[in-house]
Amino acid sequence: MSNKEQTLSIIKPDAVERNLAEKIKIIFSENSLKIKETKKLHISKDEAAQFYKVHQAKPFYDQLCSYLSSGPIEVIILEGENAVLKNRELMGATDPKNAADGTIRKLYGVSIDKNSVHGSDSVENARKEIDFFFKN
Ligand code: CMP
Repeated sequence: MSNKEQTLSIIKPDAVERNLAEKIKIIFSENSLKIKETKKLHISKDEAAQFYKVHQAKPFYDQLCSYLSSGPIEVIILEGENAVLKNRELMGATDPKNAADGTIRKLYGVSIDKNSVHGSDSVENARKEIDFFFKN
């Protein structure tokens, strides 16, 4: 049975700055994740705080919001079979030093903050995160 989903990917400031966006998008395309829409933007710290609200109680929240708003990012709607899980597999573990060989974070991540990409962790959050960046 088919299970077509959409998920949100963010190419974070460290990866945009190093001109890795095209390479990362090729990894998605070569793994059957279709790029439906993409947008480059530079969000404010308040917008980052809204986006990462689920993490507001975490000790790294302030640093996380400062980082996501520190430079240009690219937000991408990906679509494909089991897109949420597939994208998470392609990204690898949150901390690049724990990420499996061949994953985006292993290839390009610098640290747990500068880990190059964000991906939605569930279908429900994917819907919310896509709406956050693409509604209107
Ligand atoms: P991301 O997938 O964008 O979701 C939340 C982010 O918080 C995560 O990637 C990391 O870049 C960042 N982060 C910073 N410190 C930590 C930490 N100690 N544990 C988990 N995530 C962290």
